[in-house]
Amino acid sequence: MVKAVILSGGFGTRLRPLTCSRPKPLFPILNKTLLETQIMKLVKAGVSEVILAINYMAEVVQAVIGDGSKYGIKVTYSEEIEPLGTGGAVKNAEKFIDGDTFFQLNGDIVSTFDFAQLLKYHKDKKAELTLAGYIVEDPSRFGVMKLDGQNKVQQFVEKPKDVKKEDAFQLPINAGVNIFESSILNLIPPGKKISMEREIFPQLVDRGKVYCLPFSGLWFDVGLPKDFMLANKMLLEYYKSKGEDQTLVSPNCTIGKNTTVETPVAIESGVTIGSNCHIGPYTIIGKNAKIGDGVQISQSVLFENVRVGNFTSIKEAILGTGVSVGQWVKMEGDSEGMIILADHVYVQNKLTLLAWGTPLSRCPWEEVKENIFPNM
Ligand code: GTP
Repeated sequence: MVKAVILSGGFGTRLRPLTCSRPKPLFPILNKTLLETQIMKLVKAGVSEVILAINYMAEVVQAVIGDGSKYGIKVTYSEEIEPLGTGGAVKNAEKFIDGDTFFQLNGDIVSTFDFAQLLKYHKDKKAELTLAGYIVEDPSRFGVMKLDGQNKVQQFVEKPKDVKKEDAFQLPINAGVNIFESSILNLIPPGKKISMEREIFPQLVDRGKVYCLPFSGLWFDVGLPKDFMLANKMLLEYYKSKGEDQTLVSPNCTIGKNTTVETPVAIESGVTIGSNCHIGPYTIIGKNAKIGDGVQISQSVLFENVRVGNFTSIKEAILGTGVSVGQWVKMEGDSEGMIILADHVYVQNKLTLLAWGTPLSRCPWEEVKENIFPNM
């Protein structure tokens, strides 16, 4: 049986302050953690055991994911005393990988890729490494791969500016969903911080057994707040296009009189929404949120246990766990300037917070006491 290693130990610095109190692999995508989403896809592909390579906030990951029984799979933890990078973390997990072939995933990827298809391709090609590839609009943030006509990788190009621009836009990026043969682990020195992408993958090319399977469909790397927001919104749209968006509204939520819900939305169990509200579109509300009367929320993601007071309006915002927003508050960002309130931020009544063009963020447990306007 095939196992999988999921890299789940990064600091997630680009998502601060949200990652100050929650590791990125536990961020919610349509109200399920990134890790749960990945684990369920691995279960579907026939994987028997998942090894989570953890470091930052390791105990929080362990507490939430547990032994894996709730997902019908065994979950084992490979903990690093200090962060070993993407390569060192896999080497550190070697003792748990018995068998030749295993999945290696980044813990911050959302995709509609068929993992079983990737595994079959790897076997058919008798590859040593097979990478899922994806064409993105702007590959400048990612490494790209040059392939031959048989999808054999000829070169990993870390910064696509080293390739002619028009060519780079047609090359697949490394999508962070890979299949390894355990022989690769012999190239990684133990106990050292090593980048898999920069230090190990290029060494493998000359051995001639590295392949890429390009996928279409949806793919997101949740690196920045706008990626997190986009992943949630695009998946809402994906469910709507399949006519399955109704499944995203829990039957165990309470919606008050004259409240309109404009799809696509996802609303978790235990949520209470008052009367005369307008919720949606592109709104995700986590477990046990309490929303007052006359509230308007659109284009936003609310984690669990959020409180929103009467007659407050929220647009283009990410609200962490336990955030409490008072009454008559107006909170509005735009695609360039989102509002990001980390866990347990408290916003007083009657305030206006605007983030047009400039992101506005607050650290966990901060209290917002004054109006905030752009360029203040
Ligand atoms: P940034 O600090 O914002 O770059 O985020 P990050 O720390 O998550 O780094 P990056 O996005 O490059 O990481 C890709 C994946 O590898 C994520 O799933 C991380 O959790 C994971 N990762 C990165 N570094 C380490 C590490 O040292 N150890 C382990 N176990 N996982 C890591």
